[in-house]
Amino acid sequence: MSAAYRLAARPLLALQDSEKAHGRTIRRLERLGNSRLGRGLLSSLYSAPELRIERFGIEFPNPLGLAAGMDKRAQALPAWPCIGFGFIEVGGVTAYAQAGNPKPRMFRDWKTRSLVNRMGFNNDGAAETAARMEQTMQQGLWPKVPVAVNIGRSKITSNEDAAEDYLQTIEACWKYADMLIINVSSPNTPDLHQLQQQAELRELLEACISKNQECALHADLEARPLLVKVSPDLTDEQLAAIARLARTLKLAGIVATNTTTTRPEIDQEKSKQVMSQQGGLSGAPLRERSTEVIRLLYQETEGQLPIIGVGGISNVEDAWEKITNGACLLQLYSALIFEGPSVAKNIVRGLKRKLKQHHLDSLDQAVGSAVIRV
Ligand code: FNR
Repeated sequence: MSAAYRLAARPLLALQDSEKAHGRTIRRLERLGNSRLGRGLLSSLYSAPELRIERFGIEFPNPLGLAAGMDKRAQALPAWPCIGFGFIEVGGVTAYAQAGNPKPRMFRDWKTRSLVNRMGFNNDGAAETAARMEQTMQQGLWPKVPVAVNIGRSKITSNEDAAEDYLQTIEACWKYADMLIINVSSPNTPDLHQLQQQAELRELLEACISKNQECALHADLEARPLLVKVSPDLTDEQLAAIARLARTLKLAGIVATNTTTTRPEIDQEKSKQVMSQQGGLSGAPLRERSTEVIRLLYQETEGQLPIIGVGGISNVEDAWEKITNGACLLQLYSALIFEGPSVAKNIVRGLKRKLKQHHLDSLDQAVGSAVIRV
C-alpha cells in the first residue's frame, strides 16, 4: 500500500458508504480512462511491468486480472490496464437490466480486510452493456488487454429457463468478449447455486458452448474460450465432479472462486456486525479456501485445465501461493479497496522477483509447483 493512499485516501474512503465510495471510484476511473492525459497519469503512477503468459490462445501482458463485480457496467475499461491489470472481467451481466437487492448491500470490514456483498447482479442488462462496449470500441478506447465477460442469470428467469437467459447475453456480448465466464456461483441470486449440480450444469454449459460456436461461425472467427466460475462452498466431491465435467466438455478453464456464504470466527464487535450481514464474503478470510479449491481442481485435472485463481489475494505472497497451487492466471477485487490502486503493480513486480529468486524463466514453470500430483 502506498504511504499516500494509507494516509490520505483510505481514511476518507473508510468514512464513506461502501457502495457510494465504489461508484465514485469507478466514475473517477471512467473520466481518467477516457482522456489521454488521465491514462498517462494513471500509467505513470500505477502501471505494472510485463510478465507475459499465454493461455487458451490468448496473450496476457501480465497474469493479474480485475475480478468480476468491480466494473459491472463496463464503464472504465480504458483505465484498468493503466493501473496494472493484465486482463479485465466485465459484469456480471444478465439478459435483463436489473436493480439488484435493496441498499445497503455492500459492507466493508477493515479489521479483517473483507467485504460482504449482496448486490444481486445489479446491472444494465446485456443489450445496454454491449452498446457501451461498442461505444468504447468506436471511440478507439478499447483496452489492449484481454476482456472477459461474466455472465449471470436474471432474477426474473427461473433455473428451468436459465439457458435462454445466458444465451441471450452470450449473443449480445460475444463480439466484445475475449473470454466468456459462465457464472453459476454468485450467492445473491435465489437458486443460482443449484445450477452447479451435475445434470443442470452439463445442460447449461452444453447450450452455452453451442451458442458460442454459432456466434463464432457467424463472425467467421474461432469460438471464444469459455470458462465456468465456481463457489468455494461446494464440497470437494462436487468440485471434483465439475472439474471432470469441464474436461469432458473441453471447457477452456475454471475460475476459482466466487465469494463464500461461510464466515470466519471473529471476536471483534465491529467485524461481527459486518460478518452477520447476509451475502457473499470476499477478501482475506476467503484466501485459504480459495487456494484449497484451486489445488483440488489442479490435482483432479492433472494440471491440464487452466485455472484462474481468485479469492483473498492482496500481496505477492498470496499471488505466489495461488500460482504454485495451480492457478496460471489470477484476479482480485477486495484488495483494490483495502490496498489501493498500486496493488496490481506491486503484485506483478513481486511475481517477477519471485521468479528470479526461484531461478525460473517463466510463470509456466511455477504453476502448480507446490502440488504433488496424484
Ligand atoms: C463480486 N464478485 C462477483 N463475481 C462474479 O462472478 N460476478 C459478479 O457479478 C460479482 N460481483 C461481485 C460484487 C462485489 C461487490 C464483490 C465484492 C464481489 C466476486 C469476485 O469476482 C471475486 O470472485 C471475489 O470477490 C473474491 O475475490 P477477492 O475480492 O477476495 O479478491
